[in-house]
Amino acid sequence: MVALSRRGFICGSAAVAALAAVPAVAATDIKTLSNGKTELNLAANKSLANVGGIVELSIKKYGKVAVVRTSKSAQGFSVINLFCPHAGVIVKQNSAGWVCPAPPGHGSEFGLNGALKVGPATSPLRPIKFTTTSKAVTIA
Ligand code: FES
Repeated sequence: MVALSRRGFICGSAAVAALAAVPAVAATDIKTLSNGKTELNLAANKSLANVGGIVELSIKKYGKVAVVRTSKSAQGFSVINLFCPHAGVIVKQNSAGWVCPAPPGHGSEFGLNGALKVGPATSPLRPIKFTTTSKAVTIA
């Protein structure tokens, strides 16, 4: 199992900046574990096999989140909360990443991994802790 470090997140962020966006699909084969974590089976979510692949899911603890494949490495994922940090509107995917739709949003733009590109938001989409194996992404 591999835990995502801050360094790993930042390195993944740089790699994602160059990714072409692939339309997100709804996640399948999601399990809530006895410890409250959420496990996403990678074999069932084939879009995550390719760098740039994205799945979206809702988790009671966080609301709507996205899992983004950022590299081919075992820890090559980002998990981000899709609520805009400016005022909580759910962001939508566009060709470059995520945009906060107006109205009711105010047009903030984020990279695929959630990095802030254009305000008025002043912080990135919230990264969510996770671990990975060759078979699953487990969201804390
Ligand atoms: S709520 Fe997203 S920019 Fe204001």
